Amino acid sequence: MLTNEKISLFARDTLKGLTAKNKYLLPKYFYDQNGSKIFQDIMRMPQYYLTKCEFNIFSEQAPSIAKALVPAHGPFEIIELGPGDGMKSKILLQAITDMQLDFTYAPVDISYHALDELSVDLKRQFPEIRITKKAGDFFRIMKDLSEQNGVKKIVLFLGSNIGNFLPDEQAEFFQLLSRMTAKGDKVLIGFDLKKSPDIIIDAYDDPAGHTRDFNLNHLLRINHELDADFDISQFYHHTSYNPITGAMKSYLVSKKEQTVTLNEPDKKIHFGKWEPIFMELSQKFNHEDIHHLAKDYGFEVSQNFTDDKNYFTDSLWIKT
Ligand code: AVJ
Repeated sequence: MLTNEKISLFARDTLKGLTAKNKYLLPKYFYDQNGSKIFQDIMRMPQYYLTKCEFNIFSEQAPSIAKALVPAHGPFEIIELGPGDGMKSKILLQAITDMQLDFTYAPVDISYHALDELSVDLKRQFPEIRITKKAGDFFRIMKDLSEQNGVKKIVLFLGSNIGNFLPDEQAEFFQLLSRMTAKGDKVLIGFDLKKSPDIIIDAYDDPAGHTRDFNLNHLLRINHELDADFDISQFYHHTSYNPITGAMKSYLVSKKEQTVTLNEPDKKIHFGKWEPIFMELSQKFNHEDIHHLAKDYGFEVSQNFTDDKNYFTDSLWIKT
């Protein structure tokens, strides 16, 4: 058996989640190569409105967003947390490049693979932009960035990635965001808005089963990387939406009593019949929630860029 120091963060987090009283896994580990591929399928399916809405916002309003984001003068740095394939970022970068300004683009992602692909892609499309990629956990990187360097910052956190944070993580995230920004710095955050519960549920429990496969792939990743023996046919995907709190949650539920063995590190995990693993929170917000969040952490909501259906907003905040 490996010693504690030697086991990876993925192993440690997985073990912690699967041995907790209420079992859980962390959504940041969905995105191995196969998970990222399935997420692309999710983004392409008609029920997953989030991507379409935010894409609509960027394609229709990029010049206004760019104008509202860039500082009046001086060089600046755009830090993007979790750019993924950079579809939306490219539209914005194009609009900012068109303004002929001096800036650096710093994408931050947990996936080295995604970052490498993105930066190759960007260098081809925007040879004039300085790119400084940072791979790793958002929280760790935000701590490093918290030292103010005098360069004006624009922080992008798009795609409703914010929705994945549990209340404590959300608080820590906004504290770090507050710490790494100075008065006048701007942040643009994508929030999925509360809407008809039917529409939300369809987006997370699709008929083709992409979302189910996305969740089950997390178990397969544990099988591959931690030498485990999850039988994914013995787990099923369950979702629930609470229209009061706006919490969309997904679970994998054990269909029978079973024991799963992890070999690296060596651990047996027992599941009772119908015992769930909490897989993901995808929090929905209203404008009042967003306003309070901004205010609580020292920002002011300057502008909301919403899609024509009012399903999604990219909220522009200024540090006060
Ligand atoms: C990437 C976190 C925005 O919560 O909507 C999509 C991930 N999970 N379908 C979301 C996801 C299931 C997605 N985010």
